[in-house]
Amino acid sequence: MSTDSKPWAGRFTEATDAFVEAFTASVSFDKRLARHDIEGSKAHARMLAAIGVLTDDECSLISQGLDAIAAEIERGAFEWSVQLEDVHMNIEARLTQRIGEVGKKLHTGRSRNDQVATDIRLYLRDEVDTIGHLIRRLQDALLDLAEAEADTIMPGFTHLQVAQPVSFGHHLLAWFEMLERDHERLGDCRKRINVMPLGAAALAGTTFPLDRALTARLLGFDRPAANSLDAVSDRDFAIEFTACASLIMMHLSRFAEELILWTSAQFGFVDLPDAFCTGSSIMPQKKNPDVPELVRGKSGRVFGHLVGLLTLMKGQPLAYNKDNQEDKEPLFDAVDTVRDCLRAFADMVPNLQPRREAMRRAALQGYATATDLADYLVRKGMPFRDAHEVVGKAVRLGVDTGRDLSELSLEELRRLSPDIEADVFAVLTLEGSLEARNHLGGTAPGQVRRAIAAARARRQQA
Ligand code: ARG
Repeated sequence: MSTDSKPWAGRFTEATDAFVEAFTASVSFDKRLARHDIEGSKAHARMLAAIGVLTDDECSLISQGLDAIAAEIERGAFEWSVQLEDVHMNIEARLTQRIGEVGKKLHTGRSRNDQVATDIRLYLRDEVDTIGHLIRRLQDALLDLAEAEADTIMPGFTHLQVAQPVSFGHHLLAWFEMLERDHERLGDCRKRINVMPLGAAALAGTTFPLDRALTARLLGFDRPAANSLDAVSDRDFAIEFTACASLIMMHLSRFAEELILWTSAQFGFVDLPDAFCTGSSIMPQKKNPDVPELVRGKSGRVFGHLVGLLTLMKGQPLAYNKDNQEDKEPLFDAVDTVRDCLRAFADMVPNLQPRREAMRRAALQGYATATDLADYLVRKGMPFRDAHEVVGKAVRLGVDTGRDLSELSLEELRRLSPDIEADVFAVLTLEGSLEARNHLGGTAPGQVRRAIAAARARRQQA
């Protein structure tokens, strides 16, 4: 293709090297911004008409032309050209092809620099809303499951050693809380996404009396960006989003790790639905937790994108540099990954099948009520450190004789401390242990139900 087909060809005498053309082009990936590019252009045209730079007729020609192009893209009939470099020049060239000379007026008072920054923000705003909804869907599934499993007892772990019995519902609510923070963080990040670069033009602003507040209003932005140099070069919002996405992925990865452990024969706490697993081509007995494993694995790429974007920005002088074209692929991939992983979990959680008996058996095996026995002795007047020592001996006896604390006889226990009486067995049961932690944030089933109700009420208000 000859240079005169490029919108910037005026200054050039030689054609672009074919390799350089392909090397510098971004259309293969930034065509994803087409819908938002058109939305931004329509608003820009309306504003140009409002300030008298375009006539109303020109504005509606442009607007209709852009709508027709949107439809072409939608039906897959649009021909993307690498020679035209990026999504912006592809659409603009097509507009002029469709509506003639007036199409060339659209770019008045604008540059691709403020245009692309606007497009990414519009795109990301939509994606953030979708991701927010998916977080809510997963949270709702967790609340429903937690409600059904409030009375289910499992071992709680520290150091992956059995620590104290907890309600399975309580454990599920821990994941709910992580997602609650993720949702809040995204909402906060959205405020900084929702600022409009248009009007900054290439870097210094424009000589036309643009009504930036009007364009911002038309596009649903909270406000126009305050400084033109910053507006075209700021990618903080993309980094911040990727940091939010990284935290979501870290949470999902921890969640995935537990599901992978729990579905193993050694734990057997839950079954995943067949639809979320695959088999082995050689070992007929296998049912592998592929979906959680992939989610755990995919966290790495999102963390990588965060570091990639920070590194992309760290050496850039003001204002726009072509480096910024490299912001899109990591951002798009972070969006796709976090969205798909959330979707997979939101679909999977309602279909988890808890194995209540296995959880109970495991809770009975690890001396999970040892702290309850120590607290019992404290209530009888013994200092906690002494109680800890007594209970340590009781656990030793249990380990040596292959029994749980609740299976030791009263005489055996009284030999360790005469303070122990028959009422001790109430605190050594799993139910007694849970029931005793009956305060805000505790694992007593009543508290779990209260936490679920509070979470639902919070959602209703929001
Ligand atoms: N494709 C470019 C990007 O993604 C659009 C902006 C180009 N601006 C420029 N001055 N070359 O950043």
